[in-house]
Amino acid sequence: MNNFEYKNPVKIIFGKGTIPSVKKEIPENAKILMTFGGGSIKKNGVYKQIKEALNGFDFFEFGGIEPNPHYETCMKAIELAKKENITFLLSVGGGSVLDATKFIAAGALYDGDPWDFLSQRYIVNVEKALPIGAVLTLPATGSEMNGNSVITKAATQEKMAFGSPEVMPQFSVLDPECVFSLPDRQVANGVVDAFVHVLEQYLTYPVNSPIQDRFAESILTTLIEEGPKVLADRNDYNAAANFMWSATMALNGLIATGVPQDWATHMIGHELTAFHGIDHGRTLAIVLPGMMNVKRENKKDKILQYGERIWGVSSGNDDEKINKAIEKTIGFFESLGVPTTLPEYDVPEKTIGKITTRFQERKSKLGEKADIDYEQVGEILKDRL
Ligand code: NZQ
Ligand code: ZN
Repeated sequence: MNNFEYKNPVKIIFGKGTIPSVKKEIPENAKILMTFGGGSIKKNGVYKQIKEALNGFDFFEFGGIEPNPHYETCMKAIELAKKENITFLLSVGGGSVLDATKFIAAGALYDGDPWDFLSQRYIVNVEKALPIGAVLTLPATGSEMNGNSVITKAATQEKMAFGSPEVMPQFSVLDPECVFSLPDRQVANGVVDAFVHVLEQYLTYPVNSPIQDRFAESILTTLIEEGPKVLADRNDYNAAANFMWSATMALNGLIATGVPQDWATHMIGHELTAFHGIDHGRTLAIVLPGMMNVKRENKKDKILQYGERIWGVSSGNDDEKINKAIEKTIGFFESLGVPTTLPEYDVPEKTIGKITTRFQERKSKLGEKADIDYEQVGEILKDRL
């Protein structure tokens, strides 16, 4: 096992009826800016619960944060936060609202252009940020218990990430009843996203880490069992709760302790969203099978372990077993209604060239061994044509 340091200070408040507890978590004298998305919280009653709970607090609102949140939108919220001397941000929504809120939290206390925080430029680290609380309405990203954020600059079609412990929420409220109002597509996206988060931290190479491996495998198995139940019956509270906690556990740093991490599927997926607006989870369903196929030698031991322990693949030679593990993975995504090839999303072949040019310009070396260059990115995407 590799050396590691691990600290996760996010307080989780989990369960039915927990949304009003935001009241006791936010300092009484706070000047709050509540951030939210396109209006789902007004339809499912979450907005009303927050307004009631925070009655009497000094309270501003910023709505209209779009999925794959835009830098341009966040800059408007930063302006408002600065103008009103906001002291606390409350994110109410899915991963996009929370990622945007993290960017706003850091940007509000920064004098320069906060795009400086985003990776590939590595100009500045976040040194301070406004405190954040979250009410999560969509299990998927793990943003509620990590310090990561992904922001899109609409003007240049760039989707970039940054991470800092400064933007980890002080608390996150996870009420599984929020799942009841999710459309099928968002449930499926969330299951795939959480599943691939686990694989980014698991499908690498062995470092003798049986506890992390088995944590990871338990999350995968739970998603395989509970995801379809949520899709079949949106009012199944227990399935919703298990789905929600799986997604949080998939990306709160625990299963990454002491093991190598990949994240190349995500980096490539972000480009598909940047150029074609494809939902994040869906981009992963496209890229992951190509990644497993092209990196089958590097990842051989862990793909075989995954195939056997998760899908019961035990017969055939190694290549046949790897093929079977890829087939099973594709089958799972498709069973959730998530297509896994580029043509199914009308992505033309020329997009592959645009994406590889970007990685070439950035001199990117992706993957757990930093050995995926732009040419291999092209191979991985061509595998999905
Ligand atoms: O905007 P509203 O009206 O709220 O509707 C949203 C949105 O249209 C809707 N929704 C959310 N909760 C709902 C609901 N509809 C009905 N009932 C509810 N309870 O769902 C739509 C999608 O929401 P969004 O927040 O975009 O989805 P998700 O949580 O999947 O977030 C995706 C974003 O997170 C980033 C992705 O790149 C993408 O930008 N990621 C963030 C990560 C992180 N911070 O650690 C890691 C991930 O790998 C990912 O990259
Ligand atoms: Zn993801």
